[in-house]
Amino acid sequence: MTLHARLSRSADRDGANTTFLHDVWHGLAQDQKRISPKYLYDERGSELFVDITRTPEYYPTRTELAILEENAGAIAERIPRGAAMIEFGAGASTKARILLRVADIAAYVPVDISGAFLLGEARQLEQDVPGLKVLPVAADFTAPFELPASIADLPRAGFFPGSTLGNFEAHEATAFLRHAATLLGPGARLIIGVDCVKEANVLNEAYDDAAGSTAAFNLNLLSRINRELGGDFDLNGFRHCAFYNREQRRVEMHLVSRVRQKVRIGGRSFDFRRGETIHTENSYKFTLEQFRSVANGAGWQQAEVWLDPERFFSVHMLVCEDARRK
Ligand code: AVJ
Repeated sequence: MTLHARLSRSADRDGANTTFLHDVWHGLAQDQKRISPKYLYDERGSELFVDITRTPEYYPTRTELAILEENAGAIAERIPRGAAMIEFGAGASTKARILLRVADIAAYVPVDISGAFLLGEARQLEQDVPGLKVLPVAADFTAPFELPASIADLPRAGFFPGSTLGNFEAHEATAFLRHAATLLGPGARLIIGVDCVKEANVLNEAYDDAAGSTAAFNLNLLSRINRELGGDFDLNGFRHCAFYNREQRRVEMHLVSRVRQKVRIGGRSFDFRRGETIHTENSYKFTLEQFRSVANGAGWQQAEVWLDPERFFSVHMLVCEDARRK
């Protein structure tokens, strides 16, 4: 069993905070201190992310929505009739609604860790889209999970918007796409939103908006550690920093220590030099060719790609290869 699997297991027994605490301890003991971006999304973090999507600088959400609206008919045509649509990391399902309105979809399966939120949203969707079955699955979509038995005989279309794939390292992105191919099966479609490589200025501003929403989102991680793990981070002792790393084709988000300081978390203490950072997120950007080759390497063929006029964001329609033919 891997360390991660062991910690997840112990979290199941002792409460989810055990994993969080161990991940934070482990991450802050590294030379380059780091904490996984998944911990940015507690309730407050999820609210702050919605604030980000409304800033003028953060183009991805509104651009992807426009691409989906603009091409909903063409996308729907490529989804088999009576399909089940499985959304990875569903949240508010605003984007799924655009496709559910026009495509002939029999069942919608939102998969998300936050089960309570899913159930409320599911009931609302069944009222709004007559004839649609909504079958929520409360699970971490990066780990194996089961699809509802009632969709066993339906054609499948996966939906993974938001360029969430960009939060994964290359090997994790490939692992996720392979896992999706196995789950959805040969002939399945995958509609996936991917943020494009672009001019550094646009990216730097998108991840450091003038109103400070992204800074608040990043710094909330420290408040969360203080709240849930009894940490003593001084929020004024750290500042948000984000920049496009051109060689790695990713936006990096960090929390920079303004001074030399010591921080205590759950009985352990960590020293920070002045200017030392905690790396809190990578958001990888892709060229169209590069994404196509990542998809090909994980069992998917590209059937179509849709872009906005500025070519800032891409929505890809992939088709799952039949593994037996390889
Ligand atoms: C939700 C992961 C797609 O990487 O653009 C936004 C998260 N971080 N601003 C992204 C985020 C800072 C976002 N994703």
